[in-house]
Amino acid sequence: MTQDEPSIVILTGAGISAESGLGTFRDAGGLWTQVRLEDVATPEGFARDPERVLAFYNARRENCRAAQPNPAHRALARLQRARPGAALIVTQNVDDLHERAGSPPDEVLHMHGRLDRTLCNFCRHAFDDDAPLSTARGCPACGVQALRPDVVWFGEVPYHLERIFAALERCDLFVSIGTSGEVHPAAGFVAHARAAGARTLELNLEPSAGARLFDKAVHGPASRIVPQWVAETLGEG
Ligand code: OAD
Repeated sequence: MTQDEPSIVILTGAGISAESGLGTFRDAGGLWTQVRLEDVATPEGFARDPERVLAFYNARRENCRAAQPNPAHRALARLQRARPGAALIVTQNVDDLHERAGSPPDEVLHMHGRLDRTLCNFCRHAFDDDAPLSTARGCPACGVQALRPDVVWFGEVPYHLERIFAALERCDLFVSIGTSGEVHPAAGFVAHARAAGARTLELNLEPSAGARLFDKAVHGPASRIVPQWVAETLGEG
């Protein structure tokens, strides 16, 4: 199996990081019940009030640094290390908990970007950086003061789509973990993988919006059900 031909594609969402203390978006008390996504997660919101948007992401960067990977992240890393190149993680999460749990960085695709990277909104230069953002900081490449977190906002195109769809078309199994299935294009991955012949499995606290498209579902906290599934997959009974 080469890295270009994973047999398992694993889509993760905020639910896998919930037990690490990072809030989800749409559950009771979730981020989008506290702030309007139009204000902090759209290019228009950034144009209207950049300082507010940067302060919001500076706080999320701090939360992310303080969080630790949980048994679900660690189990997926164990699976990837046991089967090199056979299990590709596609994450909607902007945290780095998969990598800190030991997942090989080139087997984790951050389709919504990463909190620990910064993007120049003027020249599009992107770089590793999680120092506090402000409108006074200039881009190291072009000097313009237009830095923002390198996260994908609503209305922008997610990253790595070509590689993701190629993997969905080739995989034998598509697993969705800790995502509500409300946000496209990720919400459409299950239908795509299914149409290409993959089996589909949902591991989530509750049935997601696309629940009927999964051949099998296990409901419960990720820290319990993901290590269980990995142990079964590795034939550990
Ligand atoms: P959501 O908040 O929409 O969904 C989180 C899902 O995780 C829900 O279905 C919960 O039931 C489930 N969940 C919560 N705690 C869990 C636990 N301990 N174990 C297992 N499952 C649990 O988050 P996402 O689906 O990731 O995009 O949201 C998708 C995108 O919407 C995000 O990437 C973000 C957001 O707006 C952008 O910002 C572009």
